[in-house]
Amino acid sequence: MIVIGVSSGTSVDAIDAAAADLALRPDGTLHLRPLGHTEYPWPDALRRRILAALPPAAVDLGEVCELDTLVGQELGAAARRAVDDLAGGDADLVASHGQTLHHWVVGNRTRGTLQLGSAAWIAERARRPVVSDFRVADVAAGGQGAPLVSILDALWLASDDADHGARPTAALNIGGIANVTVVGRLDEPVLGWDTGPGNCLVDGAVQRLSGGRDGFDRDGLLAASGTVDDAALAALLEEPYYGQAPPKSTGRELFDGEYVAGRLAARGLRLDGADLVATLTELTAVTIARSLAEHGPAGGVGRVVVSGGGARNPVLLDRLRAHLPADTAVVPADDLGLPSDAKEAYLFALLGFLGVHGVAGTARGPHRRQATGARRPVVLGSLTPPTPLDLPAAGTTVRRLVLANTPHAVVPSSRGTSS
Ligand SMILES: Nc1ncnc2c1ncn2[C@@H]1O[C@H](COP(=O)(O)OP(=O)(O)O)[C@@H](O)[C@H]1O
Ligand SMILES: [Mg+2]
Repeated sequence: MIVIGVSSGTSVDAIDAAAADLALRPDGTLHLRPLGHTEYPWPDALRRRILAALPPAAVDLGEVCELDTLVGQELGAAARRAVDDLAGGDADLVASHGQTLHHWVVGNRTRGTLQLGSAAWIAERARRPVVSDFRVADVAAGGQGAPLVSILDALWLASDDADHGARPTAALNIGGIANVTVVGRLDEPVLGWDTGPGNCLVDGAVQRLSGGRDGFDRDGLLAASGTVDDAALAALLEEPYYGQAPPKSTGRELFDGEYVAGRLAARGLRLDGADLVATLTELTAVTIARSLAEHGPAGGVGRVVVSGGGARNPVLLDRLRAHLPADTAVVPADDLGLPSDAKEAYLFALLGFLGVHGVAGTARGPHRRQATGARRPVVLGSLTPPTPLDLPAAGTTVRRLVLANTPHAVVPSSRGTSS
């Protein structure tokens, strides 16, 4: 089955698309053949509107409706192009993550999550069935709804008998937010969590410094020209999120556009320019390394498999290596066969495939929970339109609606309305 995965992360830098040829063998091995991946730019005006709607902005429902429609149309157009560009016109299904606008976290529990990008519009434009809304099913089952990537990492990176004695692997994706999955042997539960900011704080600083001209610190050039401010770094490391035990997830609701200035001001500090960018880059590297040391396996991990846009920032990777133990290797996901720029798009292709086959998209975690914290394995996603299920065909046109004469429950109104 050929599945087109489309996603846009918290960075809102581009729409990522990937085509995967997936086949489940009788022995339970799922074969994923990456057919290709690309990214399509967001139209500038729409990208600006999405960014303007992210926390801490207050947005009215009219804007939410418009964004849901416009994002759906754009994701649909991207999926349609990807069918031709990546799969030679031959694709069975589109799996769309949508654009996260809000991730509702209270304390260490996720209560809700909102991805925009109407699936009906995607199905209309791409002329393919669409699986979407992957996160909310996990949240409804008590999970964090993030990081969803644990299932891919668990199926892909678990060691078997041949690797006896190998230390676990950490898969690290550095998007707007950074997340890790710690994967041991095939039969062991995996642990996954968001470590904190990936590129989002650095991007925000660069965008402000350049008056919106630059979206990010290309190749870490600004960070390399600045100096880490120890007092500012210490103030930022006081963030309580870093100390919380997994499972945990976070987003732009916490690490929003005013976060850094607010935290520094609370300590009577101010920082700007290249030194700010250097300090925020250091913050990402330190929090990832500390998170692995504090919440990862006791004996450490043997290797960190890196993906996401942050893997292209050489300063960030250097600082990460500096903070990880010397015997931990840092390996790009590409070296293991998965394009690191497109890992999330392939993830959603995989989740779409699992979803339409009724297979859970969450990996087994510790304490009889899923890696996301969900109480049970969860089949993720909603199918639009709901037709290609294995049901007998209707065989005729639907012409009338007849209400069956069965006793149906009417909830009595306690307020005694007049109609
Ligand atoms: N050449 C590069 N140098 C430095 N940072 C980069 C480079 N390319 C991408 N990035 C960073 O990666 C981010 C996009 O990463 P991505 O994995 O797409 O994140 P998300 O999943 O949040 O969209 C950009 O916003 C930028 O911060
Ligand atoms: Mg992106």
